[in-house]
Amino acid sequence: MPKCYYITTPIYYVNSVPHIGTALTTVAADITARYWKLRGHDVFFVTGTDENATKVAEAARSAGKEPQAFVDEISSEFRRIWDGLNIAYDDFIRTTEQRHVHAVQEVFDRLLKAGHIYRDKYEGWYDVSAETFFKESDLIDGKSPEGNEVRWVEEENYFFRLSAFQDRLLEHIENNPSFILPETRRNEVVSFIRQGLRDACITRSNAGWGIPVRGDESHVIYVWFDALINYITVAGWPDGEWQSTWPADVEWMGKDILVRFHATLWPAMLMGLGLPLPKTMVGHGWVLIGGEKISKTRGNVIAPLQIAADLSGRSGCSQDLAVDAVRYYMARTMPFDSDYTFTHEDFDLKFNSELVNDLSNGVHRVVSMTANFLRGEISAGGLDEAWVDRVRDEVTEFERSMAEFRIDTAISAALSIAQLMNKYIDEKKPWELNKSGALDDLNFVLRNLVWMAKACAGTFKPIAPVLSDRICDLIGSAKISDWDSVMQHDATNPIRVAAPTPIYNRLEKKKVDNETPEPNEQQEITIDDVMKLELRVARVLDAAPMPDSDKLMRLDLVVGDEKRQVLAGIAKQYTPESIIGRQVILIANLKPRKMRGLESQGMILAADGPGGEAILLQPDKDAPEGASVH
Ligand code: MSP
Repeated sequence: MPKCYYITTPIYYVNSVPHIGTALTTVAADITARYWKLRGHDVFFVTGTDENATKVAEAARSAGKEPQAFVDEISSEFRRIWDGLNIAYDDFIRTTEQRHVHAVQEVFDRLLKAGHIYRDKYEGWYDVSAETFFKESDLIDGKSPEGNEVRWVEEENYFFRLSAFQDRLLEHIENNPSFILPETRRNEVVSFIRQGLRDACITRSNAGWGIPVRGDESHVIYVWFDALINYITVAGWPDGEWQSTWPADVEWMGKDILVRFHATLWPAMLMGLGLPLPKTMVGHGWVLIGGEKISKTRGNVIAPLQIAADLSGRSGCSQDLAVDAVRYYMARTMPFDSDYTFTHEDFDLKFNSELVNDLSNGVHRVVSMTANFLRGEISAGGLDEAWVDRVRDEVTEFERSMAEFRIDTAISAALSIAQLMNKYIDEKKPWELNKSGALDDLNFVLRNLVWMAKACAGTFKPIAPVLSDRICDLIGSAKISDWDSVMQHDATNPIRVAAPTPIYNRLEKKKVDNETPEPNEQQEITIDDVMKLELRVARVLDAAPMPDSDKLMRLDLVVGDEKRQVLAGIAKQYTPESIIGRQVILIANLKPRKMRGLESQGMILAADGPGGEAILLQPDKDAPEGASVH
């Protein structure tokens, strides 16, 4: 049986309700699933809930409910919210289901039989909130390294010989560079393992909640040991045709659960069972609110469907289009490497400038001009190859990013297509062609524009499926159902567009607070803001193209006494030879940023050319190296 493309999310604790943090992981996985489905893969995408934790039973008790009734309720709340966010999962696993209990007990028995599990006395600290065991020396000011309260645990328990897998784990990580992404996290995992792995305590005394150890019901299996097994339960292990699903092609998660659990305990368990390891695990950064992690106790939970409902109310779009805007925003700001602070202001700003201005208005301009100038019908014919190439470059960039699970950069490429569409309009000025009666040219230009709108619909399809279908309806095209159709063009049939109606309307400024920045308006800044920028004259010492990128060039700059490495998106316009030795203007106090594994330590200034190409700024005559620019 051929193997499917298997995608997982973590299974979520049911002591909390879904929020934009948990939604981020789920949306990222859903976008990955939709993309590979479009590309013709037999995708199996799974999410679910983690229900056997001590903290879940405690949350049930404090809500005055029976644990089972409590987990049933919250698990269905997760499903309701994922359905509302248009998450197209193929299976939903709950760890209280019999299929899972069976798989967990089977794993335990097999590892026990193989000598990977032994019994011993456990003495140590337990962080119920993170469901993690700690040694005395791990504690910081009497709390867990995560800052949670800990309680002393002293009992006979079962241990998994994690320490025995240390070398094999390191070897696997070294031999499989895409096993753990991003690279920064892989490094964290490697140094965590190198510090030495301790055997893991994998049971607790049975307090009436959890999966009992078969043959020793005085113990229940530790929730992390239990939860990780969900990924093979769903695949049908041990009885079904699990080989057609397992190993996972990608396991999505937040960075907090990668190092100790997914990248160490889990692969060691699989090694002990003689099962293959997941191909890739992605541990993305967090979404923060006001710089803090989201949690019910901090009271900073933001519900994703509430953002959508609010947007729908304010902008007048339907709830499903508003959900697409939320999905877009989450994926667009996806903190792959670092963390990201969510603000409603930034949401509004990006909605107005990207979804409304670039995409919705771009499509609306195309459909309106076709309706007004050509009564809605464009003649059959070919395309402008130079612009087809530009769009193709962005589609290729999108594909490359998706293959590396870089949803954020994939979206930049999708958005660039919308920006190209607007540039084409501005450059070709269809209204002038209409005025002068150049009908052939007008048809040609509008045909290209409709084709670009379809390429937008194609790249947006995995991210915002309803929005993509809406674009296709407007431009009279079939909905995108396979990836090949994204760049396809039918040169033999005329195009009939629908009546022009904008997809999204811009959000008007919030009236509540005069201090709130007004979205999408050019905000005025003061001289103090200007003074924050440290602009300096720098000279290019060396330059080289970046492998795997047709846009980026690596520049070695000298700024006074200092050397800087900067990655600049100028490779399409400049060759290394043409800029080595030149002076450029550098923003010298910009926070360094990692791109394709290299650090960019600043940004050089360039103007936008008519086609969006970079035109480098340079002093009028040679200036002292490192001189300030005002
Ligand atoms: N139940 C465990 C996972 C077991 S998987 C075998 C768990 N659950 S959780 O509900 O606490 O978190 C699930 C995932 O959501 C984690 O990957 C976590 O990082 C992610 N997020 C929770 N809050 C988050 C943010 N604020 N930002 C980004 N992701 C975060 O851990």
